[in-house]
Amino acid sequence: MRRAMENLRMPSRQSRPNARSALFGFIGGVATLAAIVGVAALSGPQRATAQTLPPPTGDAAKGKEYFLAYHCYACHGYTAQTGLRRLVPMRFPQEAFIGFVQNSPIPDMPAYRDVPAAKLTDLYAYIRSIPADAQDPGSIPLLNEIRARAAGTKR
Ligand code: HEC
Repeated sequence: MRRAMENLRMPSRQSRPNARSALFGFIGGVATLAAIVGVAALSGPQRATAQTLPPPTGDAAKGKEYFLAYHCYACHGYTAQTGLRRLVPMRFPQEAFIGFVQNSPIPDMPAYRDVPAAKLTDLYAYIRSIPADAQDPGSIPLLNEIRARAAGTKR
């Protein structure tokens, strides 16, 4: 498990010289704010869906490699829809996606500051290419039963 966690360590955790890190910190702060505002805007009733989003411009085949190389699958699942948060169907337009991933406002998701936009463009194209076919967990009777039991025995 420890080894697995080591593997999950992200480029953003690397240390930087102080003056530069202050500058990056500021830029990161502004960008994070922009990302949060973006997420807030998207969580409204008119949140974008794959149908209304403009088509991606990246290379999905390369993006698949990045999805594995950057360990996105570890938290989001191999099909990007069986993990913490479904990425399929995608609700971010391309630019917002890149901003979000580089400046993740979520404590449980690393900010991929050092990953260039070109790679994230490919990653985005890959995620957009994945068919939404994961089963809704609520439709599995045994899983519902286990969840209900677990909820009942919570300490
Ligand atoms: C260590 C775990 C972890 C890793 C690794 C990770 N994420 Fe996340 N991600 C999260 C969590 C947690 C959330 C927020 C879940 C929620 O709000 O319910 C999230 C949310 C997202 C969202 C927002 C989804 C939405 O609709 O709100 C996107 C997009 C995203 N991640 C993309 C990626 C990409 C691309 C990668 C790989 C480059 C990645 N994530 C790697 C944990 C992770």
